[in-house]
Amino acid sequence: MKPPQLSLVVVLIPCLLYNAGASGVPEAELHAPRFHSIFSFGSSSSDTGNFVVLSAGFPFSPFNNSPYGETFFRRPTGRPSDGRLIIDFIAEALELPLVPPFMSKAGNFTQGANFAIVGGTALDVGFFLRHNSGSVPPFRSSLRAQIAWFRKVVKQSLSCNTTAECRERLARSLFVVGELGLTDYSYILSGGKSLQEAKSFVPFVVQAIIRGIERLVEEGARYVVVSGTPPMGCTPMALTKYAAAANATEYDRRTGCLRRLNGLSQYHNWMLQESVRRTRVKYPGTTLVYADYHKPVARLIRRPGKLGFTAESLRACCGGGGRYNYNMDGSACGLPGATACNDPSTHLFWDGIHYTEAANKYIAHGWLTGLYAHPAILSLPQ
Ligand SMILES: *[C@@H]1O[C@H](CO)[C@@H](O)[C@H](O)[C@H]1NC(C)=O
Ligand SMILES: *[C@@H]1O[C@H](CO)[C@@H](O)[C@H](O)[C@H]1NC(C)=O
Ligand SMILES: *[C@@H]1O[C@H](CO)[C@@H](O)[C@H](O)[C@H]1NC(C)=O
Repeated sequence: MKPPQLSLVVVLIPCLLYNAGASGVPEAELHAPRFHSIFSFGSSSSDTGNFVVLSAGFPFSPFNNSPYGETFFRRPTGRPSDGRLIIDFIAEALELPLVPPFMSKAGNFTQGANFAIVGGTALDVGFFLRHNSGSVPPFRSSLRAQIAWFRKVVKQSLSCNTTAECRERLARSLFVVGELGLTDYSYILSGGKSLQEAKSFVPFVVQAIIRGIERLVEEGARYVVVSGTPPMGCTPMALTKYAAAANATEYDRRTGCLRRLNGLSQYHNWMLQESVRRTRVKYPGTTLVYADYHKPVARLIRRPGKLGFTAESLRACCGGGGRYNYNMDGSACGLPGATACNDPSTHLFWDGIHYTEAANKYIAHGWLTGLYAHPAILSLPQ
């Protein structure tokens, strides 16, 4: 008897070739999208509008104010940038709608949902209460909470009726666990812990991220992107906050960033990559992409001009003035007293913490093509 797979290939290939040739439609329009949907988790760097819904009525929520969103959307959308985020560029490249924030009442979740939120942490509120009671997140928005939100909407979102059908659609979804960890370390440091003590929390943060990935895989995820963190000691906020405390030996001479803070985020990234390697072995049927957030940002800071970023690289486009155009007296970007530069695309940093659309585009391109991710997102599904 003929092997069945072979006959299928023999039948399919001429058929595909024939269709492509006969219709004359470019290949890009013929093929079905690679993924059915995108589910996104993380912190502010991937929040497409959740926090502004959650915090409606609170006094401090600048992300819904101008000039946030001025570049692409021409209005504030709740994204903490002048324009699109990395997750937006990933959705565009995969020919899927921009991932709608799960908290938005008008959201259409048939092709995915975004659970990432400003202030999102890897660790749960309970962990902070036990180990860092001086500074505890005000909302339950850890990765575990975000996965609980995901469970609530997933069936309706994928419009699947049977378990088998739901699993099949989940297997054809891309899961993106965006940057997590920086918010955790900020809470730990502002709770009075030293940098050395903060380092001892890294294994817990990494473990919480891996536990989240395992939960998603147990739900049926087969393609998961997990992001490391950008350098923590290069943000205009950190540079401003520690300016008085830091002496010249604490700055990296080439970049002007704070070396010891960068050491913390690099230690986190190293441990996360090691854990991702072990998790790949544990789940051979799952593809885990490690997306490097540090390298592209470090390259943008070292050689900004070469990549088209002509402004001073550690200076925010939008802010309340000072050496790094960030100050802590309340005149943050989006609030009275702050001003924005004329051309955000010349800047790496949009506000004191978050990157411009131009920087996000560069980073996303590196994740999609494999320059800064392994394996490349565009090589999926494998
Ligand atoms: C939701 O989006 C899907 C495609 O992504 C579309 O087919 C459907 O009509 C939309 N539903 C509503 C209520 O807009
Ligand atoms: C799920 O069930 C509903 C009602 O039983 C039906 O209308 C719908 O078409 C089904 N959806 C799928 C994807 O089979
Ligand atoms: C500067 O920092 C280094 C390392 O943290 C320390 O050894 C040194 O004593 C500091 N110098 C001053 C003048 O504070």
